[in-house]
Amino acid sequence: MTIELAPLPAPVETARPRPRIFSGIQPSGAPHIGNDLGAIRNYVRLQAEYEAIYCIVDYHALTSVHDPDRLRRQTREMASALLALGLDPERCTLFVQSHRPEVTELAWLLATVTPVSWLERTPTYKEKKLNQPEDINHGLLTYPVLQAADIVIYKASLVPVGRDQAAHLELSREIVRAFNGRYGDTFPEPQAVFTEAPVVLGTDGVKKMSKSLGNAIDIFAEPEVIRKQVMSMVTDTRRILRTDPGRPEVCNVCQLHRFFGTDYEQIWEGERTARTGCVDTKRLLAERIIEHYAPARERYRELIAQPGQVDRVLAQGAERIRPIAEATMTEVREKMGLR
Ligand code: AMP
Ligand code: TRP
Repeated sequence: MTIELAPLPAPVETARPRPRIFSGIQPSGAPHIGNDLGAIRNYVRLQAEYEAIYCIVDYHALTSVHDPDRLRRQTREMASALLALGLDPERCTLFVQSHRPEVTELAWLLATVTPVSWLERTPTYKEKKLNQPEDINHGLLTYPVLQAADIVIYKASLVPVGRDQAAHLELSREIVRAFNGRYGDTFPEPQAVFTEAPVVLGTDGVKKMSKSLGNAIDIFAEPEVIRKQVMSMVTDTRRILRTDPGRPEVCNVCQLHRFFGTDYEQIWEGERTARTGCVDTKRLLAERIIEHYAPARERYRELIAQPGQVDRVLAQGAERIRPIAEATMTEVREKMGLR
């Protein structure tokens, strides 16, 4: 895991309008701890200081999810999870991408300034071509154009995401430069904001934590499931015997302890001196993760039981930002010669 301090932009004076931030998240059902440590923590933190808009990107999900019931269920689960983790509809806007369909028009318009070669060299596109070779749909190629449209339709300048989104953000910036170059200054160049855990590794200790890779630690699963996931984690592979000294720097379990408790240095020392074994350190981590998310888990259960309430929040969110989306589209159509 890369450890890095978040490059938080300077605080804003309250008299001025708050700068706008935007982020999108796939409706992959309830999130895992990688999503929280890598991105959602920043969503929660930044909603206090910025005008924050957060979107559950169901149009993007259609590039891989083709079951309507599953998409609907997972969209609601993600919304409930984000609210349970601390997004406050009084302080930020949470909505579903397809509820503000203007963004698809903007994606088309941005596509006309985007060279195909930029899209073909996108790492996630190359990955998807390998991962779902039987379904290389056009949406996969154009995915980053829609992502750029998501951000710039609200003229957001900051985008809290995990490090895996860095290439997409760079592409968004290039698309903005191409558009502004051709039609005049219209959009700010969006900048990524990372947390202090921009890449969280999965239980295999090698790949990025991801639901589809089956190496995730869930936030909202039953404690028994979380315990199993944590106990299956790969630790320092060179530590064979219980008496071998551990290397916390390369042990994913030790790395995660940084985020769940304040005594990780003592835990690391225990590993280095072989006072503790990997099993002890994992057990402790599992209990801390379970405890850390216990209040959120309870709120999540309540929200899942009241889908009407969640749907209302999402509907209000989409309505609240309608004027921003409409104003941008009027301006863009005018600049491009469509009116
Ligand atoms: P996704 O579910 O792919 O839409 O990801 C939602 C957010 O979580 C994005 O900002 C990702 O960059 C972030 N994210 C996903 N997986 C990880 C991970 N393993 N480590 C850090 N951030 C992640
Ligand atoms: N591609 C992002 C992901 O997989 C999701 C996303 C869509 C997004 N639109 C966005 C993220 C706009 C930030 C800004 O995680």
